[in-house]
Amino acid sequence: MEENVFAPIVGTYDFLNSFLSFSQDRRWRRLAISLLEPKPGMMILDMGMGTGKIALEIARRNQATTVIGIDPCCQMLQRARNGTSEDVHFIMAQAEDIPFPDAVFDGVITGFTLRNVTNLERALSELTRVVKPGGKVVCLEFVPPSAQGVQRLPYRFYLSFILPFIGGLISRQRNAYTYLSESIIKFLTPDEVKQLMEHSGLCNVRVHRFTMGIVAIYMGVSP
Ligand SMILES: C[S@@+](CC[C@H](N)C(=O)[O-])C[C@H]1O[C@@H](n2cnc3c(N)ncnc32)[C@H](O)[C@@H]1O
Repeated sequence: MEENVFAPIVGTYDFLNSFLSFSQDRRWRRLAISLLEPKPGMMILDMGMGTGKIALEIARRNQATTVIGIDPCCQMLQRARNGTSEDVHFIMAQAEDIPFPDAVFDGVITGFTLRNVTNLERALSELTRVVKPGGKVVCLEFVPPSAQGVQRLPYRFYLSFILPFIGGLISRQRNAYTYLSESIIKFLTPDEVKQLMEHSGLCNVRVHRFTMGIVAIYMGVSP
């Protein structure tokens, strides 16, 4: 991840996510949560929690579920903390070095963070390490235009020109939204992500694609 790319956009982050995704971001997160199937009594990790949309939704809908969110950006964590009275715990940490022992979480979820970590293989092996046998790892992420069908060109145009322009205009941080576009364009295809998840030790890895295939939810199970 580029140094501090998220810190300057915390104030407009949630609004722009919703605006630039035509309000689909909430639905995508809910789909990921429903695949995770959190239940009361479970301990869930949200890796790269950002402003806490996933962690807070899980805590709100599942009383007595313990949700722990990690993120290296203290401004994001502060924003998440301000947005909740729910039972969510916030820890400043990176996916590549999760400060928990092996097999403590019943489930792990991450939204739009895989393409931002510095070392994806290491991050996936950490997610696999901290989940209990039989627990799920669910990853929500954008799919690059190279893995698209007929809508590849309009999607690429949207990412290359419209998204950085509108994001830059509203946040006044054009670099952050240029980074966002480039990180999606350069990200791995669903087959490559699936292979890395399998390589990290997860079994039965499935890929679900939504909204004309621009978003994927990956789900694997710890053996
Ligand atoms: C696009 S935001 C996604 C936030 C949130 N999960 C959501 O659904 O909106 C990516 C987040 O990943 C965090 N991040 C960047 N590098 C990370 C790393 N190495 N480990 C964990 N989180 C990281 C950023 O600070 C940022 O909050």
